[in-house]
Amino acid sequence: MCAREFDVDGVLAHLRRRPDVEAPNLHAVDATDRLLLDEAADALAADPAAVVVLGDRYGALTLGAAVSAGATGIRTFQDALTGERALASNARRVGLADRYRSLPLGVELLAGARVVLVQLPRGLAELDEYAQAIAAHADPSVRVYAGGRIKHLSTSMNDVLARSFSHVHATLARQKSRVLVASGPVPEPARFPLREHSAELGLTVVAHGAAFGGAGLDIGTRALVGVLGDTPADARTALDLGCGTGILAAALARLRPELEVIATDQSAGAVASAAETAAANGLADRIRVVRDDAAGSLDDDSVDLVVCNPPFHVGAAVHTGSADKMFRAAGRVLRRGGEMWTVFNTHLAYTRALERAVGPTRTVTRTRKFTVTASVAR
Ligand SMILES: C[S@@+](CC[C@H](N)C(=O)[O-])C[C@H]1O[C@@H](n2cnc3c(N)ncnc32)[C@H](O)[C@@H]1O
Repeated sequence: MCAREFDVDGVLAHLRRRPDVEAPNLHAVDATDRLLLDEAADALAADPAAVVVLGDRYGALTLGAAVSAGATGIRTFQDALTGERALASNARRVGLADRYRSLPLGVELLAGARVVLVQLPRGLAELDEYAQAIAAHADPSVRVYAGGRIKHLSTSMNDVLARSFSHVHATLARQKSRVLVASGPVPEPARFPLREHSAELGLTVVAHGAAFGGAGLDIGTRALVGVLGDTPADARTALDLGCGTGILAAALARLRPELEVIATDQSAGAVASAAETAAANGLADRIRVVRDDAAGSLDDDSVDLVVCNPPFHVGAAVHTGSADKMFRAAGRVLRRGGEMWTVFNTHLAYTRALERAVGPTRTVTRTRKFTVTASVAR
């Protein structure tokens, strides 16, 4: 398919979310994407060769800028691997694959950038890391257009941007979205990654802005860490599925010196954090950290134990599709008789989904808030 056949609306209409979860109430393009492209239209047209996109969900901003302003050499960073893969397949579908490059968050991505489009992340720490990186590396004339759904915006986001930029203002809202415009970068010493020593865990936790739970200990994770000693002692290979900062992987590796531990997550910030957490605790040679989507890089029947604190959000939407995808992944990579240990909010009642995807499931612990289950692979 050739890009010249499309205007912006035509490109956006062709975008798909896959390999991310697809469902009738989940969309590949939202009103924020369209508002961002409109608000930044003049800046994009004036500087189409110095465009950077952060947090594009499925490619609407990158491909929209390519078509609307003829932008070329767009540099794009997406924390989620599924978003990166969706952008790549969408770009191929509309014939725009040569208009952008995916890069890690850092100097190569941002050096000399003069127009930066941002889909605002939900977490302030992630926004803070983005803002700091832009201020450190972009051109001093850079203008940042950061948009989000009004229900997810808070004045704290303005405050975070104001730490790295001297001017921040909000545009008028449209279709329940709004854009914050920042300029005048103020470079500062790097605040990320965060590092915290947890006396409770006896571990140092390292966290980039996007990593779930920051450098602290999530209470669900705590419930699972507390029973790791009861997991099968004869396991030889373990997978921390959706590892975040890698607390479960590090706790397991330390508990079981014979165990080969793999930690995977689709978030770039998470895998960077997990690798740094492993290194900070002298476990770098014990834990193999891989960025992939639902353990897609692991062979079938290759793991004896999976530990997982599954996601229950798909972007901003609460949707069980993400957790189901993780359970199916565990069912695939576990050897017959291997076990998946999962923690979830008790009200979510995931047991039937685990039975379907993995196998017979028993409750290990249950409180009003959290349930830990063990499922035996068929
Ligand atoms: C609730 S957090 C748990 C993080 C960490 N294990 C902990 O307990 O602190 C769920 C994690 O799953 C990851 N995740 C979500 N969807 C994923 C997917 N399709 N493949 C791999 N990881 C995924 C998220 O990035 C997030 O880090």
